[in-house]
Amino acid sequence: NNNPQLHIYPTPDEVLASLADYFVELANQAIATHGRFSVALSGGNSPKKLYELLASSPYRSRVIWEKVDFFFGDERYVPHTDPESNYLLAKKTLFAPLHIASAQVFAVDTALSPAEAARRYTQTIEHYFGSKKARFDLVLLGLGDNSHTASLFPHTTVLQEAGVGAKEVFVEEKQAYRITLTAPLINQAQAVAFLVYGTDKAAAVQRVLTKERNVKEFPAQLIAPASGELHWFLDADAAAEVQKL
Ligand code: 6PG
Repeated sequence: NNNPQLHIYPTPDEVLASLADYFVELANQAIATHGRFSVALSGGNSPKKLYELLASSPYRSRVIWEKVDFFFGDERYVPHTDPESNYLLAKKTLFAPLHIASAQVFAVDTALSPAEAARRYTQTIEHYFGSKKARFDLVLLGLGDNSHTASLFPHTTVLQEAGVGAKEVFVEEKQAYRITLTAPLINQAQAVAFLVYGTDKAAAVQRVLTKERNVKEFPAQLIAPASGELHWFLDADAAAEVQKL
């Protein structure tokens, strides 16, 4: 399923409300059909307001949060107490306000070595999904202004990774390790939603959505769910350089 569905709104707040509605719809569908809703959260700045919105009324009362299992699309290789930690962002904006039990949160163990943390996370995910072919009900993604998503950074070897799991990545431009889900794992999701807003993302959105395939330069082009849905939630600024496809 390679045709992305674009949802473009004038302002970030309207984009966030639309994605929050979509999150609630998917959660209730998944819970109704198989009793749980598994979501891989994105990190960085963009999703902070989404998480705050989901944890506030009316959204917080629209999902049975006890039936939601939280994973991470990627994680910075820092302690969970570090301001850079995607776990800490989710804990402050989602897990704490919604009183999510620790058994529902599957964090990357960044106390291990990068390679061991990735290996462990792969095992955690495999154990959770068992032999089921399908993986996450939803993977939330952001987009870097260099067209990376999760921690699939340009010119890194993880872009060629065929394994369905998590891998460690040394990010040259940050001189730091990340742990990321691989593209084949993300592409086994039932649904993938990019959340991108702001003018500084317009060029990256244009490259990823309209340039001919060049995944080394534009890694987000790797994201093409095998059978799941692909959605882009964009504000007008981020979508400024793409006409309605
Ligand atoms: C991370 C994210 C990463 C992010 C992009 C965009 O861990 O940083 O998962 O892929 O989505 O870098 O980041 P912003 O939302 O901060 O612009």
